[in-house]
Amino acid sequence: MKPVALVAAVSLAIAGTAMAQQSGGDPVRGKAVYARCAACHDLNTGATRLGPSLKGVVGRTSGTMPNFNYSQALKDKAVVWDAQSLDAFLAGPAKYVPGNRMAFPPLANPQDRADLIAFLEQSAR
Ligand code: HEC
Repeated sequence: MKPVALVAAVSLAIAGTAMAQQSGGDPVRGKAVYARCAACHDLNTGATRLGPSLKGVVGRTSGTMPNFNYSQALKDKAVVWDAQSLDAFLAGPAKYVPGNRMAFPPLANPQDRADLIAFLEQSAR
C-alpha cells in the first residue's frame, strides 16, 4: 500500500470510530424515547404527519423533505443532521433554530438524546 493510501485508510478508520462514539447511545432505549416523536414523525415510509418524515434524517440537510411545507427558519438553517446537530436541536429546538414550527419542548436529558439519536442512526432509513 502506498503511504498516502495508508494514511487515508487510517484516518477513515479513526473517523469511523469517532462517529460510532458520537451518539454513544443505546438504540433500544432510544426506541422508547422515539415514542414521543412518533405522533408527528414517520420513520421509514417518507409520509408526512404533523412533521416531516425522519426517513434518512441522519445525513440529510434540514428542511429538504420534498413533500413537507417547512418553516423558512428550518430551510435557512441548512444544517446537515448528524449526531451533533440533532443533539443541539433536540436539546433546545427554539434556541437552535429560532422561528421553527416544531412544537416540542427541549429534551433535557442528554442520555435520552444520545439514545434517541442512536435509534435514529439505526432505524430512520
Ligand atoms: C407536535 C409534533 C412534533 C413532535 C412531537 C416532534 N416534532 Fe419534530 N418536527 C415537527 C414539525 C412540525 C417540524 C418542522 C418544523 C419547521 O418546519 O419549522 C419538525 C422538524 C423536525 C426535524 C427537522 C427535520 C428536517 O427535515 O429538517 C427533526 C430532526 C425533528 N423534528 C425531530 C424530532 C424528534 C427526534 C422528536 C422527538 C423527540 C420530534 N421531532 C418531536 C413536529 C414535531
